[in-house]
Amino acid sequence: SLLSPQHPLRAANTADSAMLQALTGRASAHTPVWFMRQAGRSLPEYRKVREGIPMLDSCLNPELAAEITVQPVRRHQVDAGIFFSDIVVPMKLAGVNVDIVPGRGPVLDVAIDSMSDIDKLPELEDSALDVIREAVSNTVEQLGSTPLIGFAGAPFTVAAYMVEGGPSRDHLKPRTMMHANPEAWAKLAAWAARTSGQFLRAQIEAGASAVQLFDSWAGSLGEADYRRFVQEHSATALSMVEEFGVPRIHFGTGTAELLPAMHEAGADVMGVDYRLSLSEANRRLGGGIPLQGNIDPALLASGSEALFAHVDQVLESAQAAPTHIANLGHGVPPSTDPQVLTDLVSYIHTNTKK
Ligand code: CP3
Repeated sequence: SLLSPQHPLRAANTADSAMLQALTGRASAHTPVWFMRQAGRSLPEYRKVREGIPMLDSCLNPELAAEITVQPVRRHQVDAGIFFSDIVVPMKLAGVNVDIVPGRGPVLDVAIDSMSDIDKLPELEDSALDVIREAVSNTVEQLGSTPLIGFAGAPFTVAAYMVEGGPSRDHLKPRTMMHANPEAWAKLAAWAARTSGQFLRAQIEAGASAVQLFDSWAGSLGEADYRRFVQEHSATALSMVEEFGVPRIHFGTGTAELLPAMHEAGADVMGVDYRLSLSEANRRLGGGIPLQGNIDPALLASGSEALFAHVDQVLESAQAAPTHIANLGHGVPPSTDPQVLTDLVSYIHTNTKK
């Protein structure tokens, strides 16, 4: 049964956390830190509870999803949990035949390549999201005053998987579809936007204190195509949660040229990947926007001397922005030694204490 899924009230006890302060541009006692993919294969306790249970089954088991979400908070003392799920969970709940293949990623039974495929896509029923609300409710209960960040895939990244039928390097097929069949593309991107927007809403209704829209593959687009074929759909997903007033983070990789266009889609905070310094990101965004990032994940395996020197640079560069949420420039690599992450959290907390 659900614990009164009544939005911002559920999040009220996290409002004065360092994470929420930084996300809303307020001063905090230290720089808050969380890691994309902080839950997952780098943790032995994750590998243990996942044993024999397929990825999507884990996502749809509320007790297990809550436990996996809380694991890295317990171990590393990070300032937020990120809900354990996947960008393809909403399409799965809508009834699309998708699976997550270990070591590879999301794979569809049949790739989407025509208007008739898109016309046949099922709508996501709100009641199908009850399993997500229950998992988020469980998680928020366990996290107490530590905020939970909800998330969804941005329409381009989600649609890229659907059109390719699986992971790809260059995302040629969706980029071709935009130009060859713009009506089909627009209809697919609108479907993905609605579906992701509903997924975000369910997480906030059940107590998530902030959300992140992942446009992981947006960097394969030029700015003109981003503005013409993608921006309005990301704006739709972000606007679907505007009424809740929770901070919305927008993140992608290889997006140095896209940051202003992505911000214009309606985000409150911009996530920056490791390729661009935070001070340059701040300049490109015109100042005034809280920034998240952007420790290079490669440095997690380079030894503490090189890592902490790099982190010092990131923290220094972040001074340009109004506030900073420390994170990696992309996800935690599965081979990461978890002790490195624990030490990194402690290093950032100690060295940013006001
Ligand atoms: O800790 C967290 O960040 C929360 C959970 C989370 C997962 N996926 C769990 C997961 C989040 C936020 C995601 C989002 C996601 N999923 C994105 C956007 C973020 C990014 O990394 O750019 C993307 C592109 C996906 C699609 C996807 N799902 C990929 C590329 C993979 C990896 C495939 C592999 O095995 O390497 C997945 C599977 C996945 N999602 C795993 C996890 C923990 C690995 C599953 C396992 O343990 O076998």
